[in-house]
Formats: sequence, C-alpha cells, structure tokens
Amino acid sequence: MAREFDGEILACEPVMGDSTLMTVTLPRGMAGGMVAGQFVQILTRMDGSHDPLLRRPYSVYGVDPDTDTMRLLVRPYGRGSAWLAERQVGQTLDILGPLGNAFQISPRARNLLMVAGGVGAAPLVMLSEQALARGLSVTYLMGGMRAEALLAPALVPAAVEYVVATDDGSRGHRGFVTDLVPDYLSWADQIFACGPEAMFLSLRGVVMRHRVGGKPTVQVSVERGMACGLGACLGCVVETKRGMRTSCVDGPIYDMDEVVW
Ligand SMILES: Cc1cc2nc3c(=O)[nH]c(=O)nc-3n(C[C@H](O)[C@H](O)[C@H](O)COP(=O)(O)OP(=O)(O)OC[C@H]3O[C@@H](n4cnc5c(N)ncnc54)[C@H](O)[C@@H]3O)c2cc1C
Ligand code: FES
Repeated sequence: MAREFDGEILACEPVMGDSTLMTVTLPRGMAGGMVAGQFVQILTRMDGSHDPLLRRPYSVYGVDPDTDTMRLLVRPYGRGSAWLAERQVGQTLDILGPLGNAFQISPRARNLLMVAGGVGAAPLVMLSEQALARGLSVTYLMGGMRAEALLAPALVPAAVEYVVATDDGSRGHRGFVTDLVPDYLSWADQIFACGPEAMFLSLRGVVMRHRVGGKPTVQVSVERGMACGLGACLGCVVETKRGMRTSCVDGPIYDMDEVVW
C-alpha cells in the first residue's frame, strides 16, 4: 500500500560516473513488501519551495528488510534529479510509495536475461537478487556510453554472469547492449529490460528476428513522465493492445508484446 513518508538519507555512494547510489530509511516493515520493478515518487525541492512542483519517479534498486532501508540510483538530468543527487547524508526526503506493478518471473523459468541501459540498471539488480534466491540462473547485460558509465561489477550480485557493452569500446563489446542479446536467445526463458525507449525498439527488433514460438518472453519497464503517480492525471499513459493504460498504476512493467510500439 503506497503512503507518503520521510526517508532519511543514510549513505550516498558515487557510481557510474555521474550518478549516486543512495541508501534511504523506510517505515518499519515496508521493505519486506517491496518487489522488483516498483518505484517511489520523490519531492525534489526544499520545504517551502514549489519548484519543481511535481514529484520525480525513481525505481527501487534494492531493499534490506533487516535495516528497513532501500537503495535508489540517481542520475542528474534536469532540475529535480540534480537537486536529489546533491542531497547529503542526514537529510530527509519526502517520498510516496511503493508504487506500480512488478516484474513477474514465470514459475517455469530457469534462465533469466537482464538487459539494462544506463540507470535502467536499478530495478534489474533487485530482480536478479530475487531470481538468485529462487535458484535461477541470471545473465545481466548492461550498456553505457563508456566504461565509467557502467555499474561496477561489485554492485551486481556475484552469482550473476555480468556482460557489458560500451559505445566507445572502452569496456566489453563495442556497440549497443542489444548486439549481445542474440547469443542468449536460445538459453533465456525470459528477458527483462529497463532503459531508454531506443533500447527497447532495438531489443524488440532483435527478439522478433530470432525468437521461436514466442520464447523468450520480454518484460520492459517503460519510462514516462509522471505527475501524480496515482492514476489520476493520465500524464503517463502507455498505448497497449488492451487500450490506454496508466504506467504508474497498471505499469511501469509491460509485456513487450502488449505494448503498441
Ligand atoms: C518508473 C520510472 C523509474 C525511474 N527510475 C529512475 C532511476 O532509478 N534513476 C534515475 O536516475 N532516473 C529514473 N527515472 C527517471 C527520472 O524520474 C528522471 O530523470 C527525472 O524525472 C527527471 O527529472 P528532472 O527534474 O531531473 O528533469 P526535468 O527538469 O524534468 O528535465 C530536464 C531535461 O532532462 C531531460 N530528461 C529528463 N529525464 C530524462 C531521462 N530519464 N533521460 C534523458 N533525458 C531526460 C528532459 O527531457 C529535459 O530536457 C525513472 C523514471 C520513471 C518513469
Ligand atoms: S502519473 Fe498521473 S496517472 Fe500516472
């Protein structure tokens, strides 16, 4: 059940070049109910200020029920995210969450392929941890512009096969992360993807060209601007084969075949 709460920042770790991995306190008992793919909406302005007015959405990167904390990965793009990335240990954030649906691991799946672009890495780390806890095999593909923009291997669960691609070839495959996908298509039962829209279009092209009989299935976490996060403003709609859906309530996770691209 989503609620508004104050989260205290306990740690800020610089990662992926310009980004910050933030550890934030949660209300007691909330962490145990949070699942991979969900997100929170954060007020990214000072008390008393009205700018920027709207909350900004952030995926949950990980939770620790023992310490009642979650981790968030924050990359500064514009005003709100830059404000958030500058927060310091000891400050509190006004947070609404948890929100949205979750990635669904099929009971029959054994081999999972993660495809991450940039800060899209966040929810796929939590999903990998959940999959490993069930004894599943996970390969995690990550793409970035250059080596420093990638998630450090130490931040990916050790039992995961971690394979990277960079635009400039400074680490791993030179090119798009989706170039790596064909090698895993016959192995993977399910693919989970989070990243920019261009990555989804490329992934869809690769999967449609190579897959046999609808396997592997693909779930994507779509990124839409979100004003309310509660299904009221219709600012975040996604066109699906079932009609227009609010990605803050019905999503942000969709089966790739359900979305009208
Ligand atoms: C479900 C969901 C989960 C998300 N999870 C994360 C996360 O885990 N970590 C994270 O860092 N971000 C995440 N985002 C994106 C984050 O919410 C945006 O970066 C943020 O809303 C931007 O707000 P801003 O005020 O900084 O930018 P604005 O001031 O609103 O925008 C400034 C400029 O930046 C551009 N811009 C804004 N967002 C992006 C973007 N994502 N990519 C490229 N250009 C952009 C705008 O087009 C505009 O030109 C998520 C978004 C969604 C919908
Ligand atoms: S953000 Fe308002 S309906 Fe989704």
